[in-house]
Amino acid sequence: MDKFSCHVFLLLPFFCFHLGLSWSCLNTLSNQAVNCGGSPDPGKLEYHMGPVLASPLKLYIIWYGNWNQIHQHTIRDFLNSLSSPAPRPSVAEWWSTVMLYADQTGSNVTVTSHQKPLPLDPRNGLYLVLTSADVLVDEFCRAVCAFHYFTFPATVGVIVPYAWIGYSGTQCPGMCAYPFAMPAGMPPPPSADGGNTIMRPPNGDVGVDGMISVIAHELAETASNPLVNAWYAGNDPTAPGEIADLCQGVYGSGAGGTYVGQVSTDASGNGYNVNGVKGRRFMVQWVWNPVKKRCFGPNAMD
Ligand SMILES: *[C@@H]1O[C@H](CO)[C@@H](O)[C@H](O)[C@H]1NC(C)=O
Repeated sequence: MDKFSCHVFLLLPFFCFHLGLSWSCLNTLSNQAVNCGGSPDPGKLEYHMGPVLASPLKLYIIWYGNWNQIHQHTIRDFLNSLSSPAPRPSVAEWWSTVMLYADQTGSNVTVTSHQKPLPLDPRNGLYLVLTSADVLVDEFCRAVCAFHYFTFPATVGVIVPYAWIGYSGTQCPGMCAYPFAMPAGMPPPPSADGGNTIMRPPNGDVGVDGMISVIAHELAETASNPLVNAWYAGNDPTAPGEIADLCQGVYGSGAGGTYVGQVSTDASGNGYNVNGVKGRRFMVQWVWNPVKKRCFGPNAMD
């Protein structure tokens, strides 16, 4: 795509994720959105008159490929955590920032619930297509970790929003499982004791724990910009800076450079920033809060 051009503010490596039919360029190592094509400016997040996903959201998962059941449990527990109480800071609190987005009908993004059967649900459905380690997807690991878009009536009969996220544990953890893996050639972030350490994943798998943050990113953006005509920054709808794009690489207060911000570690030293069901812990990136006008998450210090 010739639209694909990025200019990075900081002299740091950056990644570009594929969102919608568009390239969105993200600097995972900075709390600054990168200047990309349409120059999304975090301060200029704007509403473009389209709908948000405002009727109670039902998440349907399409497991594509040969899935590891342990990984499936982890992902299901994360999705169930979006609408379930858990100790603070929780996954459900994280989602409450996304629920601040409303559309011109005055309807806000709503709570999500994870559904088991797989009907075509044009009223409430949001479909997650999750591909396993053995599935190769065009552009996955070359330039993209995930994208979201919607179906067309001519092919599916209805418009339903969907997001695809690939399991990156074996194919490209350094690109898509940040901060549990680092891009090739990039030193791990400095630790408190002066050494270099890569953060360890809270559920024991670099690929699935990294994927959960990418799932969270796509869910937040699909809910607030499902038809790519609601909430985004920048003037170019084919390269939107959506609410999670603006906070790529930010997981806690003070994030910047290779520092993910202030997060917690469990007794075994694994990193996390939110709690979920069944005592689970997850690491999810922050999203843009339209009221505070900054990146925000439930583990924020201020
Ligand atoms: C709905 O969105 C508006 C506008 O951002 C916000 O002020 C309000 O708190 C939101 N409601 C809920 C329940 O999040």
